[in-house]
Amino acid sequence: MAIDSKTVVIRPVGDDERAAWEPLWDGYLTFYKTALAQDVSDGTWQRFHDTAEPLFILGAYADGKLSGFAHYLFHRSTWAPSSYCYLEDLFVAEGARGFGIGRALIEAVYEKARAANSSRVYWLTNETNAQARALYDKIADNLGFIQYRKVL
Ligand SMILES: CC(C)(COP(=O)(O)OP(=O)(O)OC[C@H]1O[C@@H](n2cnc3c(N)ncnc32)[C@H](O)[C@@H]1OP(=O)(O)O)[C@@H](O)C(=O)NCCC(=O)NCCS
Repeated sequence: MAIDSKTVVIRPVGDDERAAWEPLWDGYLTFYKTALAQDVSDGTWQRFHDTAEPLFILGAYADGKLSGFAHYLFHRSTWAPSSYCYLEDLFVAEGARGFGIGRALIEAVYEKARAANSSRVYWLTNETNAQARALYDKIADNLGFIQYRKVL
């Protein structure tokens, strides 16, 4: 069924909503063909709701149903006196894609970052993720950086 993005509500996901978040989180991990130990997901969920932690979650609610999330965090930078905002995870449930929810989630993170006086929102994606890049190319700039990673 079509979703009217104007009726989608974006708000922080409360600590009593884990049962709604968990299937989406599992879907996201499956998308990345990975799995996490239960205590890692437990810790992540707990830190979203710990006011001492700079880790946050926004949810997109279509007809009251949690249909997508954005996980983001703030960190210091050597290049700016203010924090940078890193959008770590973005996911929209399969049946809810293509109706503007992903865009609305990213724009909501922009607002949160502005409110926190952050001077930059940035994120990574795989160069093969055409669906995500179709969205990102419309709302941010690709400066051509590539990621190196050493797993420790
Ligand atoms: C990437 C993802 C979050 C996008 O969410 P979404 O709600 O479908 O995106 P939107 O509907 O907001 O799309 C916004 C724009 O991108 C374009 N777009 C989205 N999917 C597209 C597709 N498959 N083909 C072409 N354009 C597409 C739309 O045209 C739309 O543009 P418009 O608003 O000007 O019409 C979603 O596809 C998803 O969860 N994918 C799996 C997980 C993933 O890849 N996460 C991101 C990891 S970096």
